[in-house]
Amino acid sequence: MPSGKRILLIIGGGIAAYKCLSLVRLLRDSGAGVSCVLTKAAEQFVTPLSLAALSESQVHHELFNPLEEAKMGHIELSRSADLLVVAPATADILAKMAGGLADDLASTILLATDKPVLAAPAMNVRMWLNPATQRNVAMLRSDGIAMIGPETGAMACGETGIGRMAEPASIFEAIKRAFATRQLAGKHIVVTSGPTREPIDPVRYIANRSSGKQGTAIADALLRRGARVTFITGPAAVEPPPEAGVVRVESASEMLKAVQDALPADAAIFAAAVADWGVRSFSGSKIKKQKGRTVPSLELVENPDILATIANMEESRPGLVVGFAAETDNVEENARSKLISKGCDWIVANCVTPESGVFGGDENKVSLFTADASEAWPRLSKDEIGSKLADRICAELGE
Ligand code: PMT
Repeated sequence: MPSGKRILLIIGGGIAAYKCLSLVRLLRDSGAGVSCVLTKAAEQFVTPLSLAALSESQVHHELFNPLEEAKMGHIELSRSADLLVVAPATADILAKMAGGLADDLASTILLATDKPVLAAPAMNVRMWLNPATQRNVAMLRSDGIAMIGPETGAMACGETGIGRMAEPASIFEAIKRAFATRQLAGKHIVVTSGPTREPIDPVRYIANRSSGKQGTAIADALLRRGARVTFITGPAAVEPPPEAGVVRVESASEMLKAVQDALPADAAIFAAAVADWGVRSFSGSKIKKQKGRTVPSLELVENPDILATIANMEESRPGLVVGFAAETDNVEENARSKLISKGCDWIVANCVTPESGVFGGDENKVSLFTADASEAWPRLSKDEIGSKLADRICAELGE
């Protein structure tokens, strides 16, 4: 933790609030200054006294405190911190943040701040999956709010699923990352993401189940580290990162051309799920179903391999080329052989069986293969995988 940093910890009213005591401790031990703000509901779970003792600082909980408001306390609190951390970020706080509401001290500070904000959501699984919460989270992400978690596991309410607050140690790591210098400033990185669509006729196409979430998380993490990102995406289910240079494509051939046009780059990350085959002859008119006629058969041709093409360029090859391997069987063996056959520097391998929930899900479990080493990462959110990969890229690009 860079010394002297000040964290304003806004604690929401959820059972995970008790974990904030450990977080305060970790922050104080690292030399950071911590001030705590409690919502009214949070006071049911942790006491101002224990937080004041651990943070060695006054705890704030009232918006209309005559002493503090004489100095415009809520504005002062929102400005004096280097980073605001909301943990647990309940469904209610997230909704207030997304809607710009300011009806208590916590939400007023969050509306008044011009400092970076990191939120650690925590709630019951169905509250998290509720479309309203998902809309709020998507809006907050596009407003630049960083998120850590939630994680999957058993919850205090007795249910199991996604919604547990990230552990204090993970939140602490995310806080440290938020203060990391913009190590990738001046670097240009190309990221491919999402599925491709191979047209059959004006109505139909061949596609796959990629949502674009993993590629988007990687691009987000690179942007946060200061990189200039060209984000080349097929028709994905999620919005591309607002600060990236976005190129939207449909087919594998269009994606290859967009990548070539984006070069030179310091690194290229190929997270897109590219169709291996396209249809030999596109029908300009809709292929009609006709009674008595045989079912049409599609002749497929191999698509260009974008990753292999770029990894084997003689001129303008990016300094670091990272491919993915999406496998259902023999993940490790297939990933190693892709590393060699495609000629890339690293392969990020993931198992994409239906049971893994990786296609379209919020979590992934990957292994990173390089020419001489491999490491298996634990199951993490796609955002955390993006951050971990971006940290590796920072180390590799050497600044
Ligand atoms: O989008 P999500 O729902 O978040 O899911 C994430 C993901 C599973 C799509 C992602 O993590 C992933 O694995 N992306 C790569 C999918 C893929 O096409 O894997 P592959 O093993 O078939 O291809 C290997 C590599 O070659 C990939 O980097 C791919 O982008 C690239 N490729 C493949 C075929 C082709 N014609 N050109 C390519 O460049």
